[in-house]
Amino acid sequence: MSTLKKIFPVNKKDFIHAGEASINIKNLLKSLNTDAKLMRRISICGYEGEMNVVMHGGEGDLALEIDKESVVLDISDNGPGIDNVELAMCEGYSTASEKFRKLGFGAGMGLPNMKRNSDVFAIESEKGKGTFVRMVFYIEPSGEGHGR
Ligand SMILES: Nc1ncnc2c1ncn2[C@@H]1O[C@H](COP(=O)(O)OP(=O)(O)O)[C@@H](O)[C@H]1O
Ligand SMILES: [Mg+2]
Repeated sequence: MSTLKKIFPVNKKDFIHAGEASINIKNLLKSLNTDAKLMRRISICGYEGEMNVVMHGGEGDLALEIDKESVVLDISDNGPGIDNVELAMCEGYSTASEKFRKLGFGAGMGLPNMKRNSDVFAIESEKGKGTFVRMVFYIEPSGEGHGR
């Protein structure tokens, strides 16, 4: 299979369409007969990343690149950036407002879950410029992802 690249835009504070990019990614992976476990891991990461862009970030997108060996999911936004990335990576840390917590968001588990569910996780953020998260998922020769 040659490389497949697709970009899914995400709009800040757009709670009406929030989640659509990750659903579209899931549907694309399904149409490619991706292993169920691998698809689940990518979906979790896509959804958490998308919600972070909508809730905390700016305008952005989810960029998916699939080839024979791996799936790369890049999530970028041009929002306010993260003050302290190390702190943001801690389980339970969240700056979500009371309003979002009432809606069930702000558990502070998004970034830790993205790290746990990806094979390679990298995050870069600059105050006032935005945030970039790259996650890589390896595809095993059998077509299956790493069992977790
Ligand atoms: N794209 C982003 N832009 C700005 N801040 C972010 C972004 N993603 C995450 N953060 C910061 O990192 C914190 C932790 O994120 P996360 O683990 O997903 O928890 P939650 O979204 O529940 O707050 C957020 O509360 C926010 O302060
Ligand atoms: Mg989150």
